[in-house]
Amino acid sequence: MAQNWTPNSWRQKPIQQVPDYPDLAALSATEAQLATYPPLVFAGEARRLKSALANVSEGRGFLLQGGDCAESFAEHGADTIRDFFRAFLQMAVVLTFGAQQPVVKVGRIAGQFAKPRSSNIERQGDVELPSYRGDIINGIEFNEKARVPDPERQVMAYRQSAATLNLLRAFAMGGYANLENVHQWMLGFVKDSPQAERYRKLADRISETMDFMKAIGITSENHPSLRETDFFTSHEALLLGYEQALTRVDSTSGDWYATSGHMIWIGDRTRQPDHAHIEYCRGIKNPLGLKCGPSLTGDGLIELIDLLNPQNEAGRLTLICRFGHDKVAEHLPRLIRAVEKEGRKVVWSCDPMHGNTITLNNYKTRPFERVLSEVESFFQIHRAEGTHPGGIHVEMTGNDVTECTGGARALSGADLADRYHTHCDPRLNADQALELAFLLAERMKGGRDEKRMVVNG
Ligand code: TRP
Ligand code: MN
Repeated sequence: MAQNWTPNSWRQKPIQQVPDYPDLAALSATEAQLATYPPLVFAGEARRLKSALANVSEGRGFLLQGGDCAESFAEHGADTIRDFFRAFLQMAVVLTFGAQQPVVKVGRIAGQFAKPRSSNIERQGDVELPSYRGDIINGIEFNEKARVPDPERQVMAYRQSAATLNLLRAFAMGGYANLENVHQWMLGFVKDSPQAERYRKLADRISETMDFMKAIGITSENHPSLRETDFFTSHEALLLGYEQALTRVDSTSGDWYATSGHMIWIGDRTRQPDHAHIEYCRGIKNPLGLKCGPSLTGDGLIELIDLLNPQNEAGRLTLICRFGHDKVAEHLPRLIRAVEKEGRKVVWSCDPMHGNTITLNNYKTRPFERVLSEVESFFQIHRAEGTHPGGIHVEMTGNDVTECTGGARALSGADLADRYHTHCDPRLNADQALELAFLLAERMKGGRDEKRMVVNG
């Protein structure tokens, strides 16, 4: 067990991004109440995810992590969850085929409510109010009352997470995730896409494979693995009082687990080695993500790895790199080299969203071309360094929003106003998300063919 660690030892450390709750007694009462509620996830599931990620870290799998920038109380409908899952599973199938490896499926969902902000204050005209920090803390409406942090929101977020997770588990295990369904949805997407010609080649090969399996008698009736899938949840562990309340001892191992989600990550703004967020995360046994931005040095990364994964356990730590399409080549190699030199086991994942945000017509947006370009550079750099490009981390939705520009339908700056719904950062819509998967799968296959030619040639 981590030395000198308790679920509340983070309270002795300096901390960033804390909301200013006006009523601290009410806050403590809510946290005490949450501490009596059932865990959302079970430690055995977190261990299962860790072992799947251990395979990824050893080059035998690919991590797909995605979902909303921020979940919201207003958009908690069954359709939103279903449409997200539908788009996400289609990406997973395409990537499984492209990588010819298992895809570990982790949603940014069922707990992704708290947002770090670059400023404590938001100004509109002459009015200044506390910034919106996510629905688990305060309201997005620009008025004084909404922006006051309210502890009761933590209970609402907990209950929403439980309901979301319940539906996702039912979808994942109850037949909705059947590979044959997902394949049919994917064919529908290809048929309607302006890039249909391009995607059809890959789609046809998947169809052939499915037909072949059916011909030899492998069907979802006699093979549960074709109709079920493992789906895991994740969120940024930003609001530590909430996390602490859901931190529980696993009775089988005696270890502490965060039970608010299977995997939690530490943001690029809250990863100071001697601060509260690192302190909290080092003591729990879940798989962890660490966001790595341009300011992180090789030594700084090793120092953080020493704290978060002192036993060098495979699957424990995923490095989620978010540099920007034009900066990835400058920053990623030094991190890879530091990790390789010290022999640390990590999953390398690419977040191509957060370093590529621009403002266009007063909307925060992300050009699809830059998102794709960051992922491509990420793959190329790993190939050059001889390491495994292990995954992607995307902000996406299953809905037809207009938040990121570009893609096969060439959304323009003028289109952004149509359906710009995000509570925080711009997300890929369902088509853009699936396109990203297709384009990546194409390249993964290209990479494999090259290797094969070297071996055979
Ligand atoms: N169980 C396998 C997996 O999760 C195959 C599978 C079933 C699947 N349904 C799926 C893969 C939906 C991707 C999407 O990989
Ligand atoms: Mn975001």
